[in-house]
Amino acid sequence: MANNLLQGKTGVIFGALDNQSIAWKVAERCHEEGAKLVLTNAPVALRFGKINELGEKLNAPVIPADATSGEDLENLFQQSTEHFGDKIDFVLHSIGMSLNVRKKRSYTNIKYDWMHKTFDISAMSFHRVMQELFQKEHMKEWGSIAALTYIAAQRTFPDYNEMAESKALLESFARSFGYHFGVKNKVRVNTVSQSPTWTTAGSGVKGFQEFFDYADKMSPLGNASAEACADYCVFLFSDLSKMVTMQNLYHDGGFSNMGLNPSVLGL
Ligand SMILES: NC(=O)c1ccc[n+]([C@@H]2O[C@H](COP(=O)([O-])OP(=O)(O)OC[C@H]3O[C@@H](n4cnc5c(N)ncnc54)[C@H](O)[C@@H]3O)[C@@H](O)[C@H]2O)c1
Repeated sequence: MANNLLQGKTGVIFGALDNQSIAWKVAERCHEEGAKLVLTNAPVALRFGKINELGEKLNAPVIPADATSGEDLENLFQQSTEHFGDKIDFVLHSIGMSLNVRKKRSYTNIKYDWMHKTFDISAMSFHRVMQELFQKEHMKEWGSIAALTYIAAQRTFPDYNEMAESKALLESFARSFGYHFGVKNKVRVNTVSQSPTWTTAGSGVKGFQEFFDYADKMSPLGNASAEACADYCVFLFSDLSKMVTMQNLYHDGGFSNMGLNPSVLGL
């Protein structure tokens, strides 16, 4: 199904851990569409995950970077532009981790040190990535930056915990930086609000199976898969979406605009 939509383009993809990861599917689709890629993840994920396999398959270097470290990001983008021999056309931020969720602390019993860390990893990292790209002028004109988010930024999903506020912050960074990047060199910045998806990060949320099934029933088109999300990201990185910026784009089979789907009540 490849249409060379990203032929001649260069991209840096954060967050492929294993073949369930949304970033993994996005990398595969971008490669199919002709993009030249650099893959990155936290050093610990390189040890425990499968990203090196993906790098070999897509002929893409894997450069470790902790997204909370300015030094690591500086090195990542420096090495990426050297590898491409060019600036960068697109960047995917596909990073999320909550310590309170992981350690099963409820929202009404948050440990604030962990909350700081969650915000740092899941949201501020997006600002750090963009600030590094912006200050060092690493992005090409009409480039595209996207981050993955979830509707818990707008509506209450109790077990999503502090990740809800992380996503609200992430989406706000996209709007604010979208302005600065737009006027500087026509780079667009958007967030993609994805359906529940079976991945390491996703399935860490309490009651994920029920949560997944509920969203699937509520959405007229059903839940959007990771593969469908990859298609949508290809569109956002391609020249077909040049005038779309500062948006939170729902990629959720219609879930976000539903009030009630009778099938949820078994009707
Ligand atoms: N799975 C879902 O249901 C779902 C739904 C909507 C949005 N999302 C979002 O999609 C994105 C990708 O998650 P996923 O579901 O593919 O799960 P995943 O676990 O495969 O990906 C999360 C990635 O974040 C990386 N990461 C964690 N800490 C990091 C750090 N300090 N530096 C760099 N990378 C770090 C992990 O190594 C991992 O690769 C996340 O932002 C997530 O919140 C997921």
